[in-house]
Amino acid sequence: MLTKEHIKEVKSKGNGGIGHLVKLYRDSSSISFILENLGHLPNDFDGSFLPDLLQHKSSNVRLWTVKTIGKLSNEDYLKLLKKVIQNEEDTTVRREAVSSIGRMRNPKAKKYLFEVLNDNDPKVVCQAIRGLLVFRGDKDVEENLQPLINHQNEMVRTVIYKEFFATQKTPSHQPHTESFDYLKNVIVNGDTIETMKLLQDESVHLTFTSPPYYNARDYSIYPSYKHYLEFLRDVFQQVHRITKEGRFLIVNTSPIIIPRVSRSHSSKRYPIPFDIHPYLMEMGWEFIDDIVWMKPEASVKNRIGGFQQHRKPLGYKPNSVTEYLMVYRKSTEKLLDWNIRQYDWTTVKESKVADGFETTNVWKIDPCFDKVHSAVFPVELCKRVIQYYSFKHDLVFDPFGGSGTVGKTAKSLDRYFFLTEKDESYFGYMQSKKSNGMFDEYPTKFLSLKDFHQTIK
Ligand SMILES: C[S@@+](CC[C@H](N)C(=O)[O-])C[C@H]1O[C@@H](n2cnc3c(N)ncnc32)[C@H](O)[C@@H]1O
Repeated sequence: MLTKEHIKEVKSKGNGGIGHLVKLYRDSSSISFILENLGHLPNDFDGSFLPDLLQHKSSNVRLWTVKTIGKLSNEDYLKLLKKVIQNEEDTTVRREAVSSIGRMRNPKAKKYLFEVLNDNDPKVVCQAIRGLLVFRGDKDVEENLQPLINHQNEMVRTVIYKEFFATQKTPSHQPHTESFDYLKNVIVNGDTIETMKLLQDESVHLTFTSPPYYNARDYSIYPSYKHYLEFLRDVFQQVHRITKEGRFLIVNTSPIIIPRVSRSHSSKRYPIPFDIHPYLMEMGWEFIDDIVWMKPEASVKNRIGGFQQHRKPLGYKPNSVTEYLMVYRKSTEKLLDWNIRQYDWTTVKESKVADGFETTNVWKIDPCFDKVHSAVFPVELCKRVIQYYSFKHDLVFDPFGGSGTVGKTAKSLDRYFFLTEKDESYFGYMQSKKSNGMFDEYPTKFLSLKDFHQTIK
């Protein structure tokens, strides 16, 4: 029987034994098994059986053959691998051939990798770039790679940007984990854009917010949908500026319905999340996840009633039981690991998310109804977002503070908060809750925009 031990033994004896073994077991799974279990190969390994295997009908055998050739680091195989790239139909095998050439780290491989930079498959191009980056500082390599900054594929452009064009940012005057005292547990009664303009770059760790629902609620009246979207664009542009490197923005929105003006008109639906998404991407937010907040059907407005009666196609109007939490990260070439590494061991340990966390992107949470504010976040929703996307002692921001749920929850999770709320009555409502115990133990500051301006001067 073919076992790993047997393969190891045959390999250690040399003398082309592996080639014989491959001939003995002709079926594709056995051949793949042999190649897969070859492990490290000695310099004098006899690979003469490999070229024939590149014609094998099984793409898995061809893949393992290419991988094995890569291990040999023998420049004699360069031409053969080039043929694989030119003629192979299976994209995984082609990519592996490029990777094998790259792994040779041999200057003779450069010209083969240069040719691949024009390939149609962006992953093949990226693989070739990886192989060439080994020769960092080589003039030829730089001359061939740098023009790819204009490549049509975004993955290729990102790799090139990171390697050749990303300038070292002047470090923020503040360590990544810290935030300014004048922002800690502060609620400003003012327009969010005007307030944010007073803030320094890279001031907040996390933003979680639910913007006004265009004109669907009375607290938001915009002259047109276009004005509304442009307003949100300006808000999130500022949020982007004041967000620390590589940190998150979570936007809660959903398509809304503006009811019909009369029976001879139809109601109109506005796909807010889908319309603001392109703006966010353009201004430098990287899309990370779409989380669906799902509510019980009994808690939402009934739209299906008419259809239930008439059952006529086209008139189907399902009850909307979902809202989106769109998760974005401020674009950076730094990995998430970099962000995590900025924190000390104790903070990381204390911020670890406990068992029972949500494992899917569908969050079933009951909505919350409030006697004063018509659109408050459920505390559970805030809890999850804050725990999953921030560390203890971070500064959590909500530009559309409303009744202050983000603030209250952030505080209860040992985070600081900063909120802005334009409406005086909602601002007053948050203040009144303070005396009811909402922010009791915490030195929460309620400031007008003017007073806030004074505190940061
Ligand atoms: C959907 S509600 C947010 C509710 C909040 N998530 C809560 O849990 O209570 C949006 C809030 O944004 C406020 N708002 C609207 N335009 C604003 C602006 N330009 N600046 C600051 N706040 C604004 C509204 O008054 C409203 O309270």
